[in-house]
Amino acid sequence: MSFEGKKALVTGASQGIGRVIAKTLAAEGAEVIVNCAHSPAKAQAVADEIIAAGGKASVYVCDVSDEAAVKQMFAKLSPIHYLVNNARVDPYFRKPEMSNGDWFSLVMDINLKGAYLCSMSFFEQAKLLAGSCIVNISSVRAFTPAEMHMIAYNVSKLGMHGLTRAFAANGAPYQIRANTVCPGMVMTENLAKRLTPEQAAAEASKIALGRPAESEEIAAAVVYALKNEYVTGDTLQVNGGMYYAP
Ligand SMILES: NC(=O)c1ccc[n+]([C@@H]2O[C@H](COP(=O)([O-])OP(=O)(O)OC[C@H]3O[C@@H](n4cnc5c(N)ncnc54)[C@H](OP(=O)(O)O)[C@@H]3O)[C@@H](O)[C@H]2O)c1
Repeated sequence: MSFEGKKALVTGASQGIGRVIAKTLAAEGAEVIVNCAHSPAKAQAVADEIIAAGGKASVYVCDVSDEAAVKQMFAKLSPIHYLVNNARVDPYFRKPEMSNGDWFSLVMDINLKGAYLCSMSFFEQAKLLAGSCIVNISSVRAFTPAEMHMIAYNVSKLGMHGLTRAFAANGAPYQIRANTVCPGMVMTENLAKRLTPEQAAAEASKIALGRPAESEEIAAAVVYALKNEYVTGDTLQVNGGMYYAP
């Protein structure tokens, strides 16, 4: 149990990839905080699953874009050894009445400002801990040109790489590390609902390995980023050959 005695906060862990990251870190022995903003019952179900499997978990509801709420979350939960910035607003849930400006602000607020605020609060308390680490969940979309409706999302994800570098550089004197895990297409429950089997097959055909990732394959990269104490400021591409990073 390599994460025994460590506390991990996974933002946006009520479903999808975050849920599997939370379960995986708990299976490695971490005490996991399952965060979400809007669906506490789903987050509680994730925590219950972890506890039923013999792990340690609790739920903390907090909108990561709310600075006061984020500060309060860290004040209540510290010490937190590992922060996984995973929360995002689903880019396919833009309401038609939203202006471009409102949408851009919402995406930046949750995806990028949320990660920044959590990292800032994390950093202060992590200075006092040995071997703490941030993992930012980006996307292959950080490196690919966006369709018109995905511009805000892609830009927010590219911004996370800047956060990783900054926290890696500023954290190194304190043995605080920061890395980015960069998934390609991942077959989450939401994606399975949104795509018809034909659409899913068409998307999979664009991937060199011919299939989307399972969330467990993303969680495995998070575990690696947390465990390897000589990896910092780096990006782990987990995209099935969808994109070859330089
Ligand atoms: N799925 C993919 O194919 C894919 C590919 C590449 C990268 N990624 C990245 O992987 C991560 C997880 O993706 P996913 O598909 O699992 O996402 P998802 O299904 O859309 O889940 C997003 C999570 O974020 C939470 N959330 C939303 N707004 C929040 C807020 N203001 N504060 C705190 N939590 C909030 C949601 O719960 P509540 O709404 O209840 O708060 C939910 O738990 C994201 O960063 C995404 O960009 C995903």
